[in-house]
Amino acid sequence: MDIEFVRSRFIKHFDGSTGSVYASPGRINLIGEHTDYNGGFVFPGAIDKGMVAELKINGTDKVRAYSIDLKDYVEFGLNEEDAPRASWARYIFGVCREIIKRGGKIAGFNTAFAGDVPLGAGMSSSAALESTYAFALNDMFNCGIDKFELAKIGQATEHNYCGVNCGIMDQFASVFGKAGHLIRLDCRSLEYQYFPFKPEGYRLVLLDSVVKHELASSAYNDRRKSCENVVAAIQKKHPHVEFLRDANMSMLDEVKEEVSAEDYMRAEYVIGEVQRVLDVCDALEQGDYETVGQKMYETHHGMSKLYEVSCEELDFLNDIAKECGVTRVMGGGFGGCTINLVKDELYDAFVEKAKAEYKTKFGRLPKVYDVVIADGARKLC
Ligand code: GLA
Repeated sequence: MDIEFVRSRFIKHFDGSTGSVYASPGRINLIGEHTDYNGGFVFPGAIDKGMVAELKINGTDKVRAYSIDLKDYVEFGLNEEDAPRASWARYIFGVCREIIKRGGKIAGFNTAFAGDVPLGAGMSSSAALESTYAFALNDMFNCGIDKFELAKIGQATEHNYCGVNCGIMDQFASVFGKAGHLIRLDCRSLEYQYFPFKPEGYRLVLLDSVVKHELASSAYNDRRKSCENVVAAIQKKHPHVEFLRDANMSMLDEVKEEVSAEDYMRAEYVIGEVQRVLDVCDALEQGDYETVGQKMYETHHGMSKLYEVSCEELDFLNDIAKECGVTRVMGGGFGGCTINLVKDELYDAFVEKAKAEYKTKFGRLPKVYDVVIADGARKLC
């Protein structure tokens, strides 16, 4: 993302002066989907695509915000009743409110922002936006909030202002990202470890199905509810089980008659997925990409058949990729991308084949994104 581009729009829309520029990335996740809100492990990394924003304190109690991509301008105050209607502005408003709730003293500012992380493609454009503003406001107003709390501010913004009961993965990756490294994060304790990620002989590429599920937020919240239902049932017999992360298949079987068939299936997926992340970490330490690949397929299968967050288009892309490397649906699902680790020598053939066959079947091309694992939230100038 070009700083000069954002700066030129900021100058044009406000009084001609400049402010400070901040950026935060989107993320990929190698494995560990829908495990974060189950207290489990995830394995994300920040990417070289994200949001860039320029901000300048304006001496008033109003935020004046311009979305360069949407060409939309909104002005709002910082009190609860000032919540803007435009959904993009609610992310900024939510971050402001969550900082204020934590004792941060912030005031009005002018801002313009733009992004090159595609919206709704499963790469966490919203976390990139939240992290950009959480990081920037904390820095500009000297709020003294640590990075863990900055990630939680983004997550709370989703919960309280955007209607998505998400886990912590996306915001954590966006704030803590490190170039060339994935992060193994324990979503219960927030202990994390950086893993160098240099898949020799493979290239990382995302294929965007360009499918956007209309009701993705409610379907997502629904999955989370299923997990909570199963935990409540298991807890009656095993009080120490706080999250599905603490459960195993035999505990799940004990409550099979008490939970719905759908909730059972969803919990079965999560219990398997929590273990798969740990298996993949071990395999990566030994450079064993065969096992990494096998686990990614198991994840895809589980997300498609048990958790039911895939779709025909993503399953199709997954099938094509099987011959060329390893792949699975990434992020929350309900459309969006597959993540593919493709053997170097097969890369060109794979991309061409995927485009051609997808076009024949669905009448449109998938989008192709090469991604590089990059740094997290930061000040650019
Ligand atoms: C979305 C959410 C995350 C996580 C993933 C699925 O990206 O924001 O918290 O639950 O889905 O792994």
